[in-house]
Amino acid sequence: MTSSLTELEREAVAVLASNDRATHIAPAPSHYSQQWLWDSAYCAIGLAHVNPPRAAKEIVSLLTGQWSNGMVPHMVEHGRPGAKGLDLGRWLWKADRSASAPRGVRTSGITQPPVLAEAVDRVSAALAAHEAHEFLRHCVPRLCRYHEWFYRERDPHYEGLVCTVHPWETGMDNAPPWMAILAERTQSLLAHIAASRPLRAAIGGLRPDTKTIDPGERTDLIDGLRSIDLLLELRRRRYTYGDLIHTDLPCVQDVAVNAILIRNNAILRRLAASIEHPLPTWLIERMATASHSLGVLWDATASMFLSRDARSGRLLGPPTVAGLLALYAGNLTPSHRDALLNQLDDGRAFRAPYPAPSVPLDSSDFHELRYWSGPTWMNINWHLIDGLERFGQPTRAEALKHRTLDMVARSGMHEYFSALDGRGLGFDSYSWTAALTLDLVCRS
Ligand code: GLC
Repeated sequence: MTSSLTELEREAVAVLASNDRATHIAPAPSHYSQQWLWDSAYCAIGLAHVNPPRAAKEIVSLLTGQWSNGMVPHMVEHGRPGAKGLDLGRWLWKADRSASAPRGVRTSGITQPPVLAEAVDRVSAALAAHEAHEFLRHCVPRLCRYHEWFYRERDPHYEGLVCTVHPWETGMDNAPPWMAILAERTQSLLAHIAASRPLRAAIGGLRPDTKTIDPGERTDLIDGLRSIDLLLELRRRRYTYGDLIHTDLPCVQDVAVNAILIRNNAILRRLAASIEHPLPTWLIERMATASHSLGVLWDATASMFLSRDARSGRLLGPPTVAGLLALYAGNLTPSHRDALLNQLDDGRAFRAPYPAPSVPLDSSDFHELRYWSGPTWMNINWHLIDGLERFGQPTRAEALKHRTLDMVARSGMHEYFSALDGRGLGFDSYSWTAALTLDLVCRS
C-alpha cells in the first residue's frame, strides 16, 4: 500500500481487512461468513492492487473446494463451521453425499458465475514474475477442468451454452425470470404456506437475513422457500443429474453466466498458452462454438438477450440486467451491440439516476429495494464498464464508472443500492463492493 491512497481506497482497504478471515475474505461477516466463488474472484481483483500475494491466496484457497469432476462450488466453508450466520454446510447442503465432493472440505453442491480466469489473470499480472508463474501453474489446470466440467455436464445440446439448475448458480438469487420458473413447479406445501399469514410469519421469523435488514430488501419469503425446495431436490439427486435434459429439473441457459463463461474462456486460453498448458481439442472447439452462441438468446421483441429454457427452447422474460452482460462477453454483432447501448441509454429501461438497475425501470417486476429485482450492484456495473471499454465505448464506460464511484463515496460499501437515489441497501461493509471500488479507482 502506498501513501497516495485516496479516502475511498482507504475505506475499501479497511473493509477488506476487517472481512479477512485469513483463509478467505468473507462477503459480509455478519451474514455470509463462508467463502463464495464470484465474491472471492472480485476480492482478488481488488486486492491485486494492494497486496498481490494475498489476492493469490484467495484464489488458491477457493480452489481447495474444487470437486473431482471439476466443478468449483459456489461456497466453501473453511475451518470451524459458521459461528455466525447460516451454517449452511451442516444442515442444508450435505454435499458429501456426492462421490465428486472433496473430502475434508465442506462445500455447497452448485456453482456460480465463473469469473475465475479473469481474477487469475489480473492477480498474476500483479505478482512478481516467478510467483506469477507458480500461481498460473497451480490455477490454470484447475480452471481448465472447471471449464471442461461446464461443457461436459451442463451443455446438453453441445452448442456452447451451459445450463444452470438453480437460481443461486446465477448469483442473482431472486431475478424475476428464475422466480417465475420456481413458481411454476408444483409445491403443494409451499402453496399452503403462501396462503397462510401465521405460517408465513412463523417461518419468516426464522430467517437470519431479515433480523437486521428490512424484509423488503431481501428475497421474498416464498421465493426463498421455493429456492430451498429446489436445492433439496438437487441434494436428493446427490448433485448428479446424468443427462440433464431428460430430468425434470430446471435447465436454464442463463445469459449472464454464459456471457461470463465466454469471456473467461478467452482469458483462460491465453493463460494456458502462456504456460504451455495444453487444452483438449474438444474443449477448444466448444469454446469456439460458445463464442458465437449468444445470438440464439436474442429476443427481437424485447430487443435484448434473454435466458433460455434449454428443454423447451423458450426464451425467458422479463428482461433483466443479465442481458446487458452480453457486452462483457464481447464478440457481438454491431446490431446487437447498438441495441444494448440503446437499452443502457434509455431512461425507461436501464438509464436510472444510478445505473444499472437489475430490472428495467419501466418493468412491472422493478422493485426499488428488493435485492436482484431492481437495485444496482457494483459487480454488474464493473462487468459493464469492462465490456464498454473493450467495445470502444470509453465515454460510456467512464460515465458509468464515475456514477458508480460517486454512489459508493456517498453511501458507503453496501451490498447493493437504490437505482433511484443511490442509497445503500442490504448489508454494509460488503467485500465485493469494496474490492471493485478499489479496482475502479486504481485503474483510473
Ligand atoms: C447473495 C448474492 C450472491 C453472493 C452471495 C454472497 O446470495 O445474491 O450473488 O455471491 O450473497 O455475497
